[in-house]
Amino acid sequence: MTTKIKLLPLSKISKRNIQQLLKITSDMETMQYIGSGKQLWTEKIILDIMKYSKNDEKNNIDRLYFHYAIMKKNKLIGYIGLHPMFEPHKNDLQIRVFLSPNERGKNYSVMAMENLLVMKKKGMTQKNIWCISKTTNIPSNKMAIKSGGIFIKTIKIGDGKYNIYTYK
Ligand SMILES: CC(C)(COP(=O)(O)OP(=O)(O)OC[C@H]1O[C@@H](n2cnc3c(N)ncnc32)[C@H](O)[C@@H]1OP(=O)(O)O)[C@@H](O)C(=O)NCCC(=O)NCCS
Repeated sequence: MTTKIKLLPLSKISKRNIQQLLKITSDMETMQYIGSGKQLWTEKIILDIMKYSKNDEKNNIDRLYFHYAIMKKNKLIGYIGLHPMFEPHKNDLQIRVFLSPNERGKNYSVMAMENLLVMKKKGMTQKNIWCISKTTNIPSNKMAIKSGGIFIKTIKIGDGKYNIYTYK
């Protein structure tokens, strides 16, 4: 039997889920590629995102941010979301995804991406979606390709090199 994961709007997660998310966002291994090595979110930031994304959910047109918890039954095991791309594609959206370290290597991020793309097909957003993966982040590059990302080019941002993928 395949394990099912589901995407739950972040505004709907429980208090226990907030603590699970907090634990993942304070894991330094996770933050190596997200949040430039620093803790990405404090509890206050998570509560703020939950509040603002609830307002965003009412305004589907031109939405700039999408925030989802990756759920395995009632346990929050990760996050997937969309936020604005940088110039010259600032009207498009880019993916942010991360999983609890002990839930990696099980294809869950690919499943989460597939769920997100189904939601896009159903009209969640008309905007283009991109995935930006540091060239040294092998799991992220593999996830991008396995989830249907089309490699466009490698770019330099600061000291790092990043592969850019887009989705049909
Ligand atoms: C990137 C990330 C979301 C991938 O999620 P995942 O569900 O574990 O992805 P998968 O299970 O599809 O595994 C990805 C692939 O990388 C491989 N992999 C994992 N760690 C690896 C490593 N250190 N070196 C080489 N390959 C590795 C896996 O074996 C798998 O390969 P396969 O497709 O050939 O089997 C997850 O690793 C993560 O949360 N990383 C920290 C945050 C991050 O980097 N986010 C992405 C920023 S753009």
